[in-house]
Amino acid sequence: MYRIIFTQVLSRVDAETAHHLTIRLLRLIGRWPVVLRLLHRVLAPRDESLRVTAFGVHFPSPFGLAAGFDKDARCLEALTAFGFGHVEVGTITAHAQPGNARPRLFRLLENRAIINRMGFNNAGAAAAARSLRRPRRVPAVVGVNIGKTRVVPEADAARDYAESARLLAPLADYLVVNVSSPNTPGLRDLQAADRLWPLLSSVKEVAGRTPLLVKIAPDLADEDVDAVAELAVDLGLAGIIATNTTIRRDGVSSAETGGLSGRPLKARSLEVLRRLRQKAGDRLVLVSVGGVEDVDDVWERLLAGATLVQGYTGMIYEGPLWAYGINRALARRLRRHRRSSVRDIIGATA
Ligand SMILES: Cc1cc2nc3c(=O)[nH]c(=O)nc-3n(C[C@H](O)[C@H](O)[C@H](O)COP(=O)(O)O)c2cc1C
Repeated sequence: MYRIIFTQVLSRVDAETAHHLTIRLLRLIGRWPVVLRLLHRVLAPRDESLRVTAFGVHFPSPFGLAAGFDKDARCLEALTAFGFGHVEVGTITAHAQPGNARPRLFRLLENRAIINRMGFNNAGAAAAARSLRRPRRVPAVVGVNIGKTRVVPEADAARDYAESARLLAPLADYLVVNVSSPNTPGLRDLQAADRLWPLLSSVKEVAGRTPLLVKIAPDLADEDVDAVAELAVDLGLAGIIATNTTIRRDGVSSAETGGLSGRPLKARSLEVLRRLRQKAGDRLVLVSVGGVEDVDDVWERLLAGATLVQGYTGMIYEGPLWAYGINRALARRLRRHRRSSVRDIIGATA
């Protein structure tokens, strides 16, 4: 059904217009508590075998929605009701900003991919804090992903991130420092160990007891992936999210600039996960994201050592029942393998 709607209608509408339409629809659902609760009852993960605990937070399923879809935390309840075990909101910056000029979002249908150069369009940390403070009608696990305000010079980056952390950490189940978006000039340079250490230390101090993670790019050299893993362990971070979008264009014909996500990212994302697991073992919680399309991908990431798995582009191609389907298939597969819990397979092939 969704395939037909997607190919006949949605794929012909400008990608960002379709996105805004979807957000509006989800917000509408969020305003109807009866509908919201009904959807939650039918579609949210309930199978006990799917439950995982990471950095002290309980997740009803290891599969969640990656950052960038609900940038301003406007529809996280509806997204939770559709089956995501957690929703990572953001990227949120300390100051509101419009992002890059449109068009800035492109579907690559034949590659099952997306290129985006949104540039952290968001209403700012104070507005997000207001949304996150609202009482919830369904239980949701919410990660908050923060980034650098574009106009803030790189020398002041730590202060800018800390400002967002101060407002948002108390409202988050976990906090993510995003230093890996290709669409804010200079941002990815913050991944260098000598710059990352002071940045993460100051955010960690402000974050207090909220678990802190860092999100990295797939374009880092292998030695740099190792260096971030080492640094994260030494700093006592809760974990690493790998990966963000790539600036590479392997096997993709589009010349649009921006970050590429979806199927072409799958292999490198898995490679980075394996590298992180090798380096950090179980001293860090690893969150794997990039090119996850179905239960096979989720299963593979869990075996390779991810405690949590996220996706974004897959939902654009598979539709609103994507997370529900993955959860159902995952529970079924666990039963087939005679495993009572998803916890039993994490890192099994690492
Ligand atoms: C349109 C779009 C916007 C995104 N915005 C953000 C963002 O604001 N912050 C972030 O950390 N990642 C962002 N991402 C990256 C995703 O969170 C994810 O890391 C990446 O898309 C790889 O996963 P996927 O292949 O399942 O899409 C964005 C991705 C897309 C497609």
